[in-house]
Amino acid sequence: MKIYSILRSKTAILIIDQTLLPHMEKRVEIRDYRKMIEAIKALRIRGAPAIGLAGAGAAWLASIEFEKDEQFKQKLLKAISEIEQSRPTAVNLFHALNKIKDIIMTTPEDKLVYEIYEYLDSLFHYEYDSSKAMAENGLNYIPKEFTRFLTHCNTGSLATYGFGTALGVINRIAEEREITVFVDETRPLLQGSRLTMWELQKHSIPAYLITDNMAAHTIKEHKIDCIITGADRICKNGDTANKIGTMNLAILAKYFNIPFYIVAPESTIDRSLDHGNMINIEQRASEEITHLNNQQIAPNNSQTFNPAFDVSPANLITAIITEKKVYEYPYKF
Ligand code: MRU
Repeated sequence: MKIYSILRSKTAILIIDQTLLPHMEKRVEIRDYRKMIEAIKALRIRGAPAIGLAGAGAAWLASIEFEKDEQFKQKLLKAISEIEQSRPTAVNLFHALNKIKDIIMTTPEDKLVYEIYEYLDSLFHYEYDSSKAMAENGLNYIPKEFTRFLTHCNTGSLATYGFGTALGVINRIAEEREITVFVDETRPLLQGSRLTMWELQKHSIPAYLITDNMAAHTIKEHKIDCIITGADRICKNGDTANKIGTMNLAILAKYFNIPFYIVAPESTIDRSLDHGNMINIEQRASEEITHLNNQQIAPNNSQTFNPAFDVSPANLITAIITEKKVYEYPYKF
């Protein structure tokens, strides 16, 4: 059962609107780069590798729009700087857009739309192939006796193009042996309950949904073998940004003496950042935590702190599994 969160046609990018899941599986066609920026900001398309694809797709749509204009390249570069503002933490977005900026600098105007599409196409292939390789590397690396996994956020096909990162590994292991997955609901936007549970059910993998604050008790009571998550940005020293709440799990793994694995493509490694304090952590709207299903759940004028990501220190991460290899602490990327 294959799920493709994002697809390209010759004239548009098609995404599953993830804000509608699990109630409705609706594919939306996007032809305007501004609509793609809105979709990225609203998390209609999300997950680090998928954000990279969506950003590259948005740049390609802008290239089609401005192709016949005077100052084509300037307009395109301005559109790219708007796309860069959509979400700051996942490095995959900047990785893809920097590559497209290089293409703009070195390609004649009449070949630009074609060359950007060629790059976009190669990025789809890269994400697919790397997610497959990560799944194999995870299967081979994680001890065969591990059958009880705890994960956070959504790192499956919806977050990538292909098999996923951490959830891709989980799915691959489930092909070989019986496993059980415990899924953090992932407050406040519920990627765990809405998206990961949906994917696991599609793959018929036994899974239990828990709220984030149940993790410690669950690890103890259900004898969790390991914790496995994805990443949005990995620094040179291995410090890793991922969905808010991931660091809680990294600390719990240390306390309970179980491994904490990160699964991510090599493109999520940002060698320009020495350590995690240098990562730009996205702050999101107050309403995401003062309201639930449009119902206010906090007093009027409550001040909020709503970071979308946290940074797990490298020394709490047992291994980082990429498509190339498995790195173990201490990391030297
Ligand atoms: O805010 P989101 O839903 O885009 O956050 C996603 C995550 O934190 C994932 O764990 C991460 O992008 C890795 S997904 C392959």
